[in-house]
Amino acid sequence: MTGSVKLIYGDQEFKLPVVEGSEGEKAVDISQLQAATGLITLDPGYANTGSCSSAITFVDGDKGILRYRGIPVEELAARATFKETAYLLINGRLPNREELTRFSVLLNDNSLVHEDMRSFYEKYPRSSHPMGILSSMVNALRSFYPELQNLEEEINMTVTRLLSKIRTMAAMSYKISRGHKVVYPRPDLAYCANFLNMMFDSPVKPYEIDNDVVNALRMFWILHADHEQNCSTSAVRLVGSARVNLYAAISAGIAALWGPLHGGANQAVIEMLSDIAKSRNMGRAIERAKDKKDPFRLMGFGHRVYKTYDPRARIMKKMCDSLLNKLKISDPLLDIAHELEAVALKDDYFIEHNLYPNLDFYSGIVLQAIGIPTNMFTVMFAIGRLPGWIAQWKESLDDPNWKLGRPRQIYTGPTQTQFVPIDKR
Ligand code: CMC
Repeated sequence: MTGSVKLIYGDQEFKLPVVEGSEGEKAVDISQLQAATGLITLDPGYANTGSCSSAITFVDGDKGILRYRGIPVEELAARATFKETAYLLINGRLPNREELTRFSVLLNDNSLVHEDMRSFYEKYPRSSHPMGILSSMVNALRSFYPELQNLEEEINMTVTRLLSKIRTMAAMSYKISRGHKVVYPRPDLAYCANFLNMMFDSPVKPYEIDNDVVNALRMFWILHADHEQNCSTSAVRLVGSARVNLYAAISAGIAALWGPLHGGANQAVIEMLSDIAKSRNMGRAIERAKDKKDPFRLMGFGHRVYKTYDPRARIMKKMCDSLLNKLKISDPLLDIAHELEAVALKDDYFIEHNLYPNLDFYSGIVLQAIGIPTNMFTVMFAIGRLPGWIAQWKESLDDPNWKLGRPRQIYTGPTQTQFVPIDKR
């Protein structure tokens, strides 16, 4: 505790303790507020509410800082593998060589998906969104691989299974949706290359692994790996707080991530840029985004926490330019994105509202260059975010201050009224 806040309510005075995090962030602890005063706090969208203490990820939205377990995301994006990053988030430290080898072996050993699950995929309408399929399939995994006693060893096995199988399931979903033969995981390939091979290899056209593409995917996934208490992570923690199994909690996270204001934004950005390309009217998009009567927003712009340039977007933009250059791809959407960013950053509305490109602004163009179809973009985000969700779920499991998630409300409906039988209504 570092001090307190004085609250005067009626003729009484209360003291609320202030807690401080390791980076100096302060919060008023209101956990005893209702018991002491009868008051609850009201904070729509939890914009001003800390739901937990966490040692996983640090974000400073004013300075544009993001660190996983203390390590700047810039360093991880430049030098770490996605596997190392996942290990770091989940276990709290980087693995040594032996631990990493063991982790890799376990990921390989668990990469196959039960053959019976294929029939689920085949019964889905071909037009189904892959995020809906992924969310259901992750939940279905529990039926194939139940944890029996919730022992630490079993939980660790579930974690490894999920990290490994999510790639296989995502690629399977894509192949089956196209009516193509499923490609099995290859133990000789590393995490990112293995996924790309399962997505794009085919008997008629063997997939050639390109190191620039693998590297782009590695960075893409590292940049998405965690972002503290965002919408989907909060969903994982909230659903997990009922002590459901990990599969069910992750399935809820995937469902939350699907939304266009969250992970679905990467797909929405490409759709917006394509519309601008078709209409050749960027000015109209800018004007619509500023018009309060129009629900349209500039997708890939703005963030609840970052009030400056999103550090992930800065890395993604640079990587996007370099990847397209290396692959000699000339994507007109990239030119539109650059121009739109330049126009928006000079516009008073965007300046006054602190609206900068977020992670999703350039990520869709990167995914397109890799060959990922638009409706799989958010699935790519989900695979990247999985280590973060798992780390947060595990942390909440071990939290000595753990409580079932159960927010309060201020009721605004009718006061007590009588039931009227149907013939008298
Ligand atoms: N275009 C136009 N105006 C915007 C935008 C935008 N993209 N984002 C925020 N605003 C305005 C909003 O209209 C409001 O204006 P006013 O105060 O005049 O009424 C003000 O900025 C604050 O907006 P808010 O919705 O209260 O702020 P928020 O913190 O809830 O919004 C957001 C965060 C991400 C939902 C929002 O910026 C948005 O809708 N962005 C577009 C969708 C998007 O790119 N989402 C991806 C987020 S990053 C990936 C992730 O972590 O999920």
